[in-house]
Amino acid sequence: MAKTKSAFFCKNCGSESPKWVGRCPACQEWNTFVEEVVATGKESGWKAAIPKLSNKTEKVLPVKLVDIIKTDTFRIITPDEEFNRVLGGGIVPGSITLIGGEPGIGKSTLLLQVALKLPHTKILYVTGEESLEQIKMRADRISNASSECYIFPETNTQKIFEQIKHLEPDLLVIDSIQTVFTELIDSTPGSISQIRECAGQFQRLAKETNIPVMLVGHINKEGEIAGPKLLEHIVDTVLQFEGDRNYIYRILRCIKNRFGSTSEIGVYEMEGNGLRPVSNPSEILLTQRDEALSGIAIGATMEGMRPFMIETQALVSNAVYGNPQRSATGFDGRRMNMLLAVLEKRAGFNLGNKDVFLNIAGGIKVTDPAIDLAVIAALMSSYEDEVINTKIAFAGEVGLSGEIRAVNRIEQRISEAEKLGFEKIFISKYNKQSVDFKRFKIKIASVSKVLEVHQQIFK
Ligand code: TYD
Ligand code: MG
Repeated sequence: MAKTKSAFFCKNCGSESPKWVGRCPACQEWNTFVEEVVATGKESGWKAAIPKLSNKTEKVLPVKLVDIIKTDTFRIITPDEEFNRVLGGGIVPGSITLIGGEPGIGKSTLLLQVALKLPHTKILYVTGEESLEQIKMRADRISNASSECYIFPETNTQKIFEQIKHLEPDLLVIDSIQTVFTELIDSTPGSISQIRECAGQFQRLAKETNIPVMLVGHINKEGEIAGPKLLEHIVDTVLQFEGDRNYIYRILRCIKNRFGSTSEIGVYEMEGNGLRPVSNPSEILLTQRDEALSGIAIGATMEGMRPFMIETQALVSNAVYGNPQRSATGFDGRRMNMLLAVLEKRAGFNLGNKDVFLNIAGGIKVTDPAIDLAVIAALMSSYEDEVINTKIAFAGEVGLSGEIRAVNRIEQRISEAEKLGFEKIFISKYNKQSVDFKRFKIKIASVSKVLEVHQQIFK
């Protein structure tokens, strides 16, 4: 019987200490140490759990960088184009990917869907959260495509490794890393030392057998992936699945990727029969309207590398209940206050006794400063109760002195607007030199001041 003892672990970086310390000596965070039971005296690692899975026995020696032969990385291309794009072109063999997201956002649905639609691939889907019937019910909703997908309701890593050895899958899915445990450590599943050890075992498995591993990770109250930050260091790729549960749109974002760029995003729509990849997000984000209404302006924003046309809606009305109210949904409230102050001071709008509401349509959160111009235009439109032509789009940042500043990737934004049938786009004067006007049929209006925008849209 191994001697049981406890140790202290840092919640942030996973470092270990025999006694409690107030500040982690490794990552310098305060008050992150928690006590956990650990067992010593046993051999650790996945090799101990299942010794004969790897047949790599040759000794590895250092190699000169110039002597390394680069082969084109083979990737498993899934039928889901959005998923491939976010991963940088498909699943890399031997890679380990972590998918985080709020409960109910669709992590299990996404992975099961990818697993079910992958042809000629043997998949082991390990579930520690749901029963076989539950998975079957979900699979029936998603598709009737039958791939070689094995479902295994198990949480003990040793038993999982035995099945891997037996089945030799081409892809392993662990749903979720917080529910699996190893007998080598006595603490409960989901504790820091368990997550650290299990993730380490899966990482070694991936590297030594070349089986790609997908881990589902829960997130904590602060919206970060639960468990030690170390988990994010261990894995090759970290994906975040986000969106508002009350809306149907979901965004799959890449936070870390050792095999591709992190600026790619994937957009999905949650439907009755699973997640549908959305290849042209702008079309669903622009509401279909028969009549033109005041307070609406369309902004050309970027999410990662993809241009989006997003509708901003503003309502400016007289404050009838004492203090004027200001509220923004999908947009930073402080930034809205700044824009209101700019309108007040630089364009002579009298907003002190107005209620102001701002909403980004579709439940999307926008942080791209290029939407400022659309926000300002929507506010002006509602204030004046004048309609902005629905064929006009905006892309520009607004500065404190009311100047319209240049934004990045302006040509991409313009061509997205053109593609979607817009006839005119307002951009900053300072963006002019970086645009090849001959390329576009859409009218490009350059402005330098907030007041100029007002004169041009309501003339
Ligand atoms: P789930 O994938 O279990 O989320 P997670 O693993 O991230 O916790 O659940 C996704 C939600 O989506 C669930 O509340 C039900 C809903 N859903 C649909 O709307 N359509 C579908 O086809 C499926 C499978 C789920
Ligand atoms: Mg789930």
